[in-house]
Amino acid sequence: MSDIKKIKDEFLLKLKKNLDLNQINQIKTDLFGKTGLISSQFKQLGKLEEEERKKFASDLNSVKNELQNSITTKINYIETSEINQKLEKEKIDITLPERPFNKGKIHPVSQVIDEISSIFSEIGFSVEEGPDVENEYNNFTALNTPDNHPARDMHDTFYLDDKKELLLRTHTSPVQIRTMLKDKPPFKIIAPGRTYRSDSDQTHAPMFHQVEGLHIDKDINMGHLKGCLNYFIKEFFEVDKIKMRFRPSHFPFTEPSAEVDIGYEIKDGKIVIGQGDKWLEILGCGMVHPNVLKNLKIDTKKYQGYAFGIGIDRLAMLKYGINDLRAFFDCDYRWLNHFGFDPLDVPSNYRGLSR
Ligand code: DAH
Repeated sequence: MSDIKKIKDEFLLKLKKNLDLNQINQIKTDLFGKTGLISSQFKQLGKLEEEERKKFASDLNSVKNELQNSITTKINYIETSEINQKLEKEKIDITLPERPFNKGKIHPVSQVIDEISSIFSEIGFSVEEGPDVENEYNNFTALNTPDNHPARDMHDTFYLDDKKELLLRTHTSPVQIRTMLKDKPPFKIIAPGRTYRSDSDQTHAPMFHQVEGLHIDKDINMGHLKGCLNYFIKEFFEVDKIKMRFRPSHFPFTEPSAEVDIGYEIKDGKIVIGQGDKWLEILGCGMVHPNVLKNLKIDTKKYQGYAFGIGIDRLAMLKYGINDLRAFFDCDYRWLNHFGFDPLDVPSNYRGLSR
């Protein structure tokens, strides 16, 4: 008994000192490790007579418990004081003035691209992308617009090399070609993006935006094209009824081709879309020319479909009452603050497409 009392007193004294966790662990090993002082005492038990053994075991157990409690208390104390020290050091000074910050706005063109993508995705179109720098084949030749075709002149193309093989795409139609080259029909895609032509006035900028549409499948006809565009225009302008007309036109990559006008009127100096007796052209479209499908080795007896190209900037101007296209690309923050959209505002017709 005197041995274990000595051990107890010695170690309780040690535990009163200023210790770190490593030192405590050392003490634990010294006492309760395989050859620890307390562990070795337990090994003596077997050598004692029964009476003596009972008493020694009970004394030994209470010394063991006392030491263990004291170690646990010490560990808790060290851990708590470490946390308190940290808290003291990491205190946040809430009296400091906040840093100034600027809240950005969503550009009307980005907003409208989101709205368009969201409307078309509801009726099964997926979104494709193509590069701004295109080759001559995708931009013209594959779209049934060969070298000497007069339609090429209308495009005022920015060529990037003397051989006129690389150019800034003049429309989003080459994304039709890219899509049909990489996959097999059916296709049902839209492709929004930047387009370029050497042209600049109040309604034309050298860089502008279009969204292309392409739907190729078995038994697709012009009725589907009409239904799809009618649905889109109503959803986009948030009106129940829309006056819309198809005017015969010509594009080398569609046959027949049409331009689509929508009705509007001016009320209290503001343009109102949907009804009225004035017409506004908003897009070009048609049934994809068999030559285009043949260029892409698509069986024209099995598959046909429609395509369309919409000017995005024009739609944004109409919907949000902006009258000078050039201001879109001036990077004037005052303009953006006025016409831009709060990134946290959810428009009423927004369907949750992520930006
Ligand atoms: N690419 C044409 C343009 O920029 C617009 C267009 C017309 C696209 C008819 C089409 C289409 O897909 O079918 O003027």
